[in-house]
Amino acid sequence: MRVLISYFSRTGHTEGLAKAIADELASRGHEPEWEVIRPAVRYSWFRELVLDWPRYPSIGLSLVSASWRRRHLDTYHQIEEEIQALDHPDVSGFDLVCIGGPKWAQLSYPVARYCATVQGIRGKRVGSFFTFGGPPLKTFEIELYEKSMARMLARVGAAHAGNVGISSAYHEAGLLPLFRLASLLVFRRPVTSFTLGSEYAQKGIRKFCDDLIGGGV
Ligand SMILES: Cc1cc2nc3c(=O)[nH]c(=O)nc-3n(C[C@H](O)[C@H](O)[C@H](O)COP(=O)(O)O)c2cc1C
Repeated sequence: MRVLISYFSRTGHTEGLAKAIADELASRGHEPEWEVIRPAVRYSWFRELVLDWPRYPSIGLSLVSASWRRRHLDTYHQIEEEIQALDHPDVSGFDLVCIGGPKWAQLSYPVARYCATVQGIRGKRVGSFFTFGGPPLKTFEIELYEKSMARMLARVGAAHAGNVGISSAYHEAGLLPLFRLASLLVFRRPVTSFTLGSEYAQKGIRKFCDDLIGGGV
């Protein structure tokens, strides 16, 4: 099976997850090929955050109202950002494509641009993976990313075949104390018990590969 792993990673955490997925795939007899998604310009984290601020009130309401959340996920404007030329601009020769990036409220902007512009993705099976700063809060971290990715893939005609998200316990804006507290309050466990190398991450990566390719070659 020909597998492509495409990822954007601004501070290295999603890259770590991409490599762990590649190791799991290799243990099942699949050697993935790589696409590193690189933004055309590296902006500051503050500028990237500010770009999405108009959507924050709607995201806040999504956390308390399921019907608002559905509406938000169906209608919000996904920001995209210019990316550099791709090594594999056409993915039609691959059996499976895995697309990864950090959670930036929803999809990170370079990943959104990649999904919208890469050729040959229509009809393709796609697995998505992502990292986020906080603990794995069901709605704020997991659902907001998974459903945003599902919406993006539906828009380009690809089939969403699986998803895995893990925490990095890191945020460039220095939000780690808040994440630590949220993790203890909600899960009664430190946020590091959801990062790469944890049982949580190992289980998620194995299930992701099971969903995408099953046990063998
Ligand atoms: C613009 C921006 C928005 C972010 N939004 C979120 C968020 O909504 N939830 C969260 O937990 N972390 C958020 N983060 C933190 C990143 O998701 C986290 O640090 C991620 O693991 C970084 O991955 P990377 O090292 O591959 O770039 C955000 C970071 C940036 C720069």
